[in-house]
Amino acid sequence: MIVLGIESSCDETAAAIVNDKREILSDVVLSQEEHKIYGGVVPEIAARSHLDHIDDIIEQAITRANIKPEDIDAVAAAAGPGLIGGVVVGVMAAKALALALNKPFVAVNHLEGHALVSRLTNNVEYPYLLLLVSGGHCQILIVKNPGDYERLGTTIDDAAGEAFDKVAKMLKLGYPGGPMVEKMAAIGDENRFALPHPLKGSGDLNLSFSGLKTAVRKIIESYGKYNIEETVLPRKDIADICACFQKTASECLIDKLGKAADYFKQKYPNGKHIVVAGGVAANTYLRKNLEKLAIDKGLEFAAPPIRLCTDNGVMIAWAGLERFQKGYTDDLSFKPRPRWPLDENAPKAAGAGGVKA
Ligand code: KG4
Ligand code: ZN
Repeated sequence: MIVLGIESSCDETAAAIVNDKREILSDVVLSQEEHKIYGGVVPEIAARSHLDHIDDIIEQAITRANIKPEDIDAVAAAAGPGLIGGVVVGVMAAKALALALNKPFVAVNHLEGHALVSRLTNNVEYPYLLLLVSGGHCQILIVKNPGDYERLGTTIDDAAGEAFDKVAKMLKLGYPGGPMVEKMAAIGDENRFALPHPLKGSGDLNLSFSGLKTAVRKIIESYGKYNIEETVLPRKDIADICACFQKTASECLIDKLGKAADYFKQKYPNGKHIVVAGGVAANTYLRKNLEKLAIDKGLEFAAPPIRLCTDNGVMIAWAGLERFQKGYTDDLSFKPRPRWPLDENAPKAAGAGGVKA
């Protein structure tokens, strides 16, 4: 079985082809550079750029996979959540191709793409505990099957990636900020500044990053003449702030995930894995600490290779393949969804959303 997946929900125009032998036949990603000068993604520019490139990216995916279009068994696209202008471009392209090839169309939740990709790359079995950390989302979930999730906790304000991006912006490190913060953190002193751990001991599994970001801002402002538009701090201070922020953000995630792991093990004694996914899962410091946590809890740690953590077509193709295997295909009238919670169709599990830490 061969599935083509299309991703266009933020600033990556991507297409990829995978098969049911867990082989990635092609993986084409175009990261839009146009947003850099604005310090963040501009939705209108993103949508236009997707439109300009999508046909070429799909064609490249088919050529590199060395298959004929007719060999494709289903066409999947990220149909939300995300920037709607871009999502519409990918969904329209997928529907048109599905129609032309007379093959089914599969609407994939972008978050499900992140959530399931480790099953392709690491052969992870259901159920597993997932930390989903991207630019727009930050959730702790139990993944039981495609479309079947139990959400244990979520951020009550900023997503983890958003916090990395905002800290990077304050320090003038450019966009996207995560990779730059990680790079600077590697040469900084992670014990120089004590930062708060919002919602620590809150009694639930929710997270919060807004207070952490504000604490970073206060440190920066303590440099007397600081002006958000102009001041560039000395390199050593930037590195120390990045290291302290990365350490604290990681501690916040590990703290709640550790409590979630206790719940997961008790409820699913056969569950084996802690998995991390989403753009922030590319962070090596976080991955190392998650690995330690998994060992402590007697679980195995799995993470997609770094290039499959940030947005890509492979994860959409794979989630599409899993859905297709289950018989979940979608009508060509499916409407793209700017908002689409991952757990909305899940059967209500006892304790869902209200797990006590
Ligand atoms: O999953 P993704 O590519 O897009 C969304 O679905 O949001 O995630 C992008 C986010 C950005 O906030 C980016 O700064 C963050 O992932 N990110 C990282 C790293 N690489 C990407 N955050 C921390 N460390 C990294 N190495
Ligand atoms: Zn994403």
